[in-house]
Amino acid sequence: MCQNGNELNKFLQVKVVGIKIGLLGLGTVGGGTVEILQSPEGRHPLLQELEIYRVGVRDRTKNRSLQFAENVLTTDLEAIVTDPNIDIVVEVMGGLEPARSLILQAIANNKHVVTANKAVIARYGEEIFSAANEKGVYVMLEAAVAGGIPVIQTLKQSLGANRIQTVTGIVNGTTNYILTRMQTEGADFAQVLADAQQLGYAEADPSADVDGLDAADKIAILASLAFGGRINLADIYCEGIRQVSAADIAYADKLGFVIKLLAIAHRHTTKTTDSDLLSIRVHPTFVPKIHPLATINGVYNAILIEGEPLGQVMFYGRGAGAGPTASAVVSDIMNIAAILKTETVPIPHPLLSCSHQHYCKIAPIQELITRFYARFLTKDRPGVIGKLGTCFGNHHVSLESVVQTGIHGELAEIVVVTHDVAEGNFQLAIDEISKMESIDRIASKLRVL
Ligand code: NAP
Ligand code: HSE
Repeated sequence: MCQNGNELNKFLQVKVVGIKIGLLGLGTVGGGTVEILQSPEGRHPLLQELEIYRVGVRDRTKNRSLQFAENVLTTDLEAIVTDPNIDIVVEVMGGLEPARSLILQAIANNKHVVTANKAVIARYGEEIFSAANEKGVYVMLEAAVAGGIPVIQTLKQSLGANRIQTVTGIVNGTTNYILTRMQTEGADFAQVLADAQQLGYAEADPSADVDGLDAADKIAILASLAFGGRINLADIYCEGIRQVSAADIAYADKLGFVIKLLAIAHRHTTKTTDSDLLSIRVHPTFVPKIHPLATINGVYNAILIEGEPLGQVMFYGRGAGAGPTASAVVSDIMNIAAILKTETVPIPHPLLSCSHQHYCKIAPIQELITRFYARFLTKDRPGVIGKLGTCFGNHHVSLESVVQTGIHGELAEIVVVTHDVAEGNFQLAIDEISKMESIDRIASKLRVL
């Protein structure tokens, strides 16, 4: 939203004493949020002015450890988002619907919104922020990306002076946990996933995490803030970790890498036009062991931001869980409460609200320039390495290393690492190689950071 002076004048200057919160959801994040709000001692004094007014759940009869005054708990979520007494609606119920509709209804009823729902924001951000801008209310989403890591406000405020070039993140704890265990135990993906599900680290339906979709939602939000434009989720190249094998993890180790699921957003300036073009992608990546992101293990998240003039800055912490995520939710509530309490700051505050309307241009993945690792199983006969090298060369793919290490039954295993090449050229070479009579199969191909 770009407000001019006249538009700013239409927004209310209000003084509110005792800010009433309507919570939608009382699960992991909602429960953590209530725990902070119900124990304000030793925290910021502003917390003492916040009141949990209504809490919406699906099942009111569920056994819950948290205590509320009578009539606070309800299954009528619409009554919360339309209640004229409520100032801030906190959506921590998850899912696309009815979460999206309830957020829109809250906005239509002049409520500020705090949400942890990356799936809704990444898909319906345009609709939600347009409605919020129209009404002059805030939609805050610190908890939606990397849980407890304060990266959203950092991008909006503290890094605002920088021209951001690249955002690279490990933003999904489940996949980082699985890859870390594969690395330390030499185990295969399916085996670790089953164990992670049994331990409650991975969902019964793990697709959003292991197929990279959750990370894609998160990098869409981060890129939108870093590069000041909306991101069409469908433009993000997304590849999960299902195909990463114990053999690839072992080769990565030998070659001086670890494998991480990275979400990357990078700004190019095209030579021909001057306009910015972004590349945004999620995929398992060979990360050099000396890279700061290589050391992020288990369920932890980290985000490395590179900008001018700051250079590199990295944020590390817990990306999920009741306490960390609630820390982010409550900080958003406090930011809104602080504004509601003052008569001097106009709503909307330019550093807290959404200020862009255009969509960023995203380059097709074929235009990406990157290094690749590829593993081939081939007939064990003279000339195969030569044929591979010739084919790559014909497609302008320069090889940094070629190793033949093992024999699997009748087949030889050949691993190549390329120099920086155009993804489209690499793919053409791979397509041609896959048809060679001496090639049994291309076991894997992964990008190298
Ligand atoms: P959760 O534990 O499954 O809790 C969901 C809550 O919402 C429950 O209290 C449930 O009610 C209520 N609910 C769900 N659908 C409802 C409906 N249709 N009507 C009424 N109530 C409904 O979820 P969560 O893990 O807290 O996640 C909430 C949001 O935070 C999601 O968007 C998630 O992506 C995001 N998030 C979560 C984490 C995390 O660590 N869990 C981290 C970052 C972001 P009942 O209690 O009656 O079942
Ligand atoms: N499923 C997510 C993860 C939870 O594993 O990181 C936090 O968004």
